[in-house]
Amino acid sequence: MSKQIAVVGQGYVGLPLAIAAAEAGFSVVGIDINRDLVKALSAGTSPVGDISDAEIAHAIARGTYCASTDFSLIADCEIAVICVPTPLDSEHRPDLSALESAVHSVATYLSEGSLLIVESTIAPGTTREVVAQIVGSDKNIEIAYSPERIDPSNKQWNIRNTPKLVAGLTPSATDRTVDFYSAFINRVDRGESVEVIEVAKLLENSFRLINISFINEIAIFCQKLGVDVRDVIKAASTKPYGFMPFFPSAGVGGHCIPVDPSYLSAKAHEIGAPSRFIDLANDVNRSMPTFFAGIALGKLGTLAAKKILVVGIAYKPNVSDMRESPAVELIAELRSRGAEVSWHDDLVGTWAGESSTPLTADYDLVIFVNPHPGTDISLLGTAHVLDTRGGY
Ligand SMILES: NC(=O)c1ccc[n+]([C@@H]2O[C@H](COP(=O)([O-])OP(=O)(O)OC[C@H]3O[C@@H](n4cnc5c(N)ncnc54)[C@H](O)[C@@H]3O)[C@@H](O)[C@H]2O)c1
Repeated sequence: MSKQIAVVGQGYVGLPLAIAAAEAGFSVVGIDINRDLVKALSAGTSPVGDISDAEIAHAIARGTYCASTDFSLIADCEIAVICVPTPLDSEHRPDLSALESAVHSVATYLSEGSLLIVESTIAPGTTREVVAQIVGSDKNIEIAYSPERIDPSNKQWNIRNTPKLVAGLTPSATDRTVDFYSAFINRVDRGESVEVIEVAKLLENSFRLINISFINEIAIFCQKLGVDVRDVIKAASTKPYGFMPFFPSAGVGGHCIPVDPSYLSAKAHEIGAPSRFIDLANDVNRSMPTFFAGIALGKLGTLAAKKILVVGIAYKPNVSDMRESPAVELIAELRSRGAEVSWHDDLVGTWAGESSTPLTADYDLVIFVNPHPGTDISLLGTAHVLDTRGGY
């Protein structure tokens, strides 16, 4: 009989993991507290762009996948992987409530000697100091951390060919975790310790936040200087070593890049270490929507009663994910200055009770945030365009 595993949290991270494990022959139960989501998954409907309805239906038909809200099913599983959200609270501080709740539920049902793997992004020390404390030592449950690196909509790098970092609190937890992932991931790397890979995950995403914020600051500099930042990046990219291009935007979004670095800076605060680059990058990133509202004002003279269309409101092209999207702040800022703002997004049909508006030339200004590749911008005719991706 195939090994039974549970994947707790069936979102952008947990669902692709569950389906990959099911395809590798594990018998997978995908557990989530969201009843509507579980209902949709059980009917073979995928809420995640990278997983098709057919893949879910196929796994259900083979009997290797089912979705459920019932945590007691974990009692039959040898491994439970936790993929629940780790967001920030309203003060931009780590909010571990979903993780703690999931660990409590899992620890209640996991049987003696099972393996618990955390994939959610967490601050250094959380596996040992929070997860292991909740689990306790009664049932000899082994614990490992393995940060997820999935990049939604990335066609080149997926769950199977993106190297996976793994470290357990014991050598045996590491070995068991390596064995598990090696069944469906091409390369699995052992970290020196759980703490090392907790920091490594935050380093990866802080690197992106800092560099994207830096190029946005350079873009502002270029705008004032009167050169196109895209030409500057193209020129610098001719250097074959020591330079990596990053591209300007209205700011970073999604559940990772704007969030994870704050887990590192919160820990830095706690232990008295500096995190000035992250703090500065956050400042620059969060100021970008206001910067673009200012550019729009400069172009139109006033924003009062001006008709503005924002095109591409998801946090990046090719996804419908609105989490932390800079378009939200930009739209709010433009409206607070009196503009009549509509938006168009081919993948985000509705958001906050509003619907995507058709593309026409009938606007005083059109602002590109993250247009999707298939968006037919020719429908905008001769409308005046402000492109937050450069050249404004
Ligand atoms: N989205 C990404 O691109 C990405 C990439 C790498 C790492 N991560 C990290 O992975 C984790 C999960 O992110 P995501 O994007 O999949 O989130 P998500 O919001 O898409 O999915 C999380 C799911 O967990 C469920 N959930 C919440 N609390 C629960 C609980 N107590 N028990 C069971 N289910 C619960 C939610 O209903 C939701 O369906 C986060 O820590 C995130 O930082 C995300």
